[in-house]
Amino acid sequence: MTDRPTHETRTGGPAAVGTKPGDLAPGDVKPSDLAIGIDFGGSGIKGAVVNVRTGQIVGNRLRIPTPQPAVPRDVVAVTDELVGRLVEAWDPRDGDTFPVGVGVPAATRNGVTLTAANIDPAWIGFAAEREMGLAMHRVVAVGNDADVAGLAEIRFGAGRYQRGLVMVLTIGTGIGTALFIDGRLVPNTELGHLEIKGRDAEERAAESARDRLGLGWQDWAAGFDTYLHELERLFWPDLFILGGGASKRADNYLRYLTVQTPIAIATFRNNAGIVGGALIAYERRARETAAAQAAAAAGAPAAGEPAG
Ligand code: BGC
Repeated sequence: MTDRPTHETRTGGPAAVGTKPGDLAPGDVKPSDLAIGIDFGGSGIKGAVVNVRTGQIVGNRLRIPTPQPAVPRDVVAVTDELVGRLVEAWDPRDGDTFPVGVGVPAATRNGVTLTAANIDPAWIGFAAEREMGLAMHRVVAVGNDADVAGLAEIRFGAGRYQRGLVMVLTIGTGIGTALFIDGRLVPNTELGHLEIKGRDAEERAAESARDRLGLGWQDWAAGFDTYLHELERLFWPDLFILGGGASKRADNYLRYLTVQTPIAIATFRNNAGIVGGALIAYERRARETAAAQAAAAAGAPAAGEPAG
């Protein structure tokens, strides 16, 4: 049993300009350009159908509270339910073909989650992509949540057309980092765990630390600024993009940041995970289709050769 999903109000950025299926004239959007993005957060699992050509969320964004404890089996069940509802709300005939991409707050390699800093330890070594694919009977791609959100910003948001080294930070329960060089992702950087003054950076600089330590914006920003200086000193990026929950409230702390690296605020705010999830899903399906076609071509008799 899971909680009923709620329809959310959309906030800020291009992803906010959602359209309902009924608003679209036939032919405005091709079902093959649509994918479902899922963002697995500490308090909610959110998802939407996304037009991967434009990076726009189409239809409603749905959210189901994250099961507690957020063990893999229950998260898979909730994700499956969320996807079912999104498909139902769209059009089951088309929706049955939509691939699904999920951003998970863990380092992720080949669809397996490898760490569990802010989630249940059962995620370590969990074959997330395979298990979700089996549960949902559709193509599923799983990636680190910051990498996935960063991808949305690089393709359609604050990092669009940016060359050089771009570092996207998602500031929420933890700190996620995504590193892009000329638009290409270097996955799983996990720089929220950089050690500063003998402590994991995210313990002091994540948004959750503000509440936990009872800090005002200026005090919190001082710690976050120290963290940015450390990243600057080690990586000399061309641009920082600040995303995640804290990006919605950047007005409260931007003026306290003193790094010389330019700072942009994530265009998608905290919808980036959903949009990026849809992007990795779409790309996974494209790769699988290409591989199947190549295999079929390799196995097919050459032109003019007798079959059999
Ligand atoms: C995790 C990262 C994640 C980040 C943001 C960190 O604690 O280690 O994998 O990207 O939180 O959710």
